[in-house]
Amino acid sequence: MKTALTLSGSIRKGSENSKLALHLGRKLREAGVSVTDLDLADFDMPIFNEDLEPDNVPEAAGRLAELWRQADIIFIATPEYNGGLPPLLVNTLAWLSRQKPSPFRHAVFGIGGVSSGKYGTIWALSHLHDSLGKIGGLVVPGLLGIGPAEGAFDANSELLDKTAIRKVETMVHDLTHISRG
Ligand SMILES: Cc1cc2nc3c(=O)[nH]c(=O)nc-3n(C[C@H](O)[C@H](O)[C@H](O)COP(=O)(O)O)c2cc1C
Repeated sequence: MKTALTLSGSIRKGSENSKLALHLGRKLREAGVSVTDLDLADFDMPIFNEDLEPDNVPEAAGRLAELWRQADIIFIATPEYNGGLPPLLVNTLAWLSRQKPSPFRHAVFGIGGVSSGKYGTIWALSHLHDSLGKIGGLVVPGLLGIGPAEGAFDANSELLDKTAIRKVETMVHDLTHISRG
């Protein structure tokens, strides 16, 4: 059985991106994938600084890297901060990129995001797509940008918009067909 991780670049209570990550997790499970929903709050890492290497590398970096190496699919939902990625995600990717062997070369990545604005994290997704590609990750083509966040989900965190629902279906199809298993 294929395995997947979902995670959100926001650890805010009530995060819209956490809703999206959990939503993808449910849809991947329905497609027969064994899914673990991760919470980055469980992977505490200081702001990356090369001076912390090699003696003060956080245990969480190695733990998260090992989970990434073992997963066939990784879905990341990211907020957009000032047209870019939130510091939590940038920091996480910086620490992971320093772990050996690379945690970016086995899983296929899906990326998406929810923003309060109507452009639906399009700039953040572009940064994330570029960054993952440059450190060796294979990202499926669709960018699952959703905005505005208000009214995007119902009370059960199910997506309401038909276009967004179709994009999720395509993402699940691509992730399950392109990943190795
Ligand atoms: C520091 C900061 C910068 C933001 N910049 C953007 C932005 O560039 N584009 C946008 O659409 N929303 C922006 N927002 C609003 C976020 O889209 C909104 O807060 C979103 O709900 C955050 O995701 P979350 O609910 O998963 O925490 C910003 C929010 C913060 C706190």
